[in-house]
Amino acid sequence: MPKIDFNDRMLSLGLARVSEAAALASARLIGRGDEKAADQAAVNAMRDQLNLLDIAGTVVIGEGERDEAPMLYIGEEVGTGNGPEVDIALDPLEGTTLTAKDMPNALTVIAMGPRGSMLHAPDVYMDKLAIGPGYRNGVVTMDMSPAERVNALAAAKGCSTQDITVCVLERPRHEEMLAEIRGTGAAVRLITDGDVAGIIHCAEAATTGIDMYMGSGGAPEGVLAAAALKCMGGQMYGRLTFRNDDERGRATKAGITNLDRVYTRDDLVTDDVIFAATGVTDGSILSGIKREVGYLTAETILMRSKTGSVRRMVYRNPT
Ligand code: FBP
Repeated sequence: MPKIDFNDRMLSLGLARVSEAAALASARLIGRGDEKAADQAAVNAMRDQLNLLDIAGTVVIGEGERDEAPMLYIGEEVGTGNGPEVDIALDPLEGTTLTAKDMPNALTVIAMGPRGSMLHAPDVYMDKLAIGPGYRNGVVTMDMSPAERVNALAAAKGCSTQDITVCVLERPRHEEMLAEIRGTGAAVRLITDGDVAGIIHCAEAATTGIDMYMGSGGAPEGVLAAAALKCMGGQMYGRLTFRNDDERGRATKAGITNLDRVYTRDDLVTDDVIFAATGVTDGSILSGIKREVGYLTAETILMRSKTGSVRRMVYRNPT
């Protein structure tokens, strides 16, 4: 069969529908204290919508390995099969706890690109560093200490370190880093979950107040964040970290040979991609699902790296 081109322009609206459907499905579970049920509702809806798209899709970042996730597992084929061969990275509910507790910035997230366009990141942690657009390449690096990064970014921004805000996941493993960042005078925005949103915040620093993201979180989420920054602009670096041989084995199984490699944004996502995210709970980049009698309203951000276009779309759906 002749190769069908990845028509990112035509497919993008379909991707937004997939993301919207997942968010709408999890709406009735916001603030209900049941993370599993919220995630399951989003997974089911995302999968149903994906299977309506005319693509020959493979999930490369998904709900987990085949033996641990019955749906949207890594390697699952999705779509009608009548269309371009694409790779898909998804997180039907990024911030399951945020959703269950009705805390800010829970999102549904999905990215799509031509086959081979995204790192098959194993389910391990990744050390991440991200800043928004407008800075010279390499102004902050993985080799720098947290304090050096803050100083370098402040110098590049032409401000004092006190005017820099760094977003960090609140975890015991980040305590030393936090102390060092605060030692520079910079502010820290702590988030309890959801580092995809955390990193996207850097791309809209004027709105969100966040200049830089650093710290470790899920490697699959790192690829999703890189896809978003590839569309919005901004720099990102990631290095996989391993706690044991089982985790190293996961990387090897995913075809990764250099376990110490520092990936740039464009190593994580090597070709043009489309990206959609829908707000589940209210956040700084997207409003959450609004419930009115008879309607649900969802806000989606839809972006294409080829053109750098960023759309925000509000969808009202009768219930
Ligand atoms: P879930 O939505 O799967 O709960 O993940 C949320 C998240 O906060 C991610 O954004 C982040 O990358 C990861 O979990 C951090 O992992 P951990 O909670 O183990 O530190």
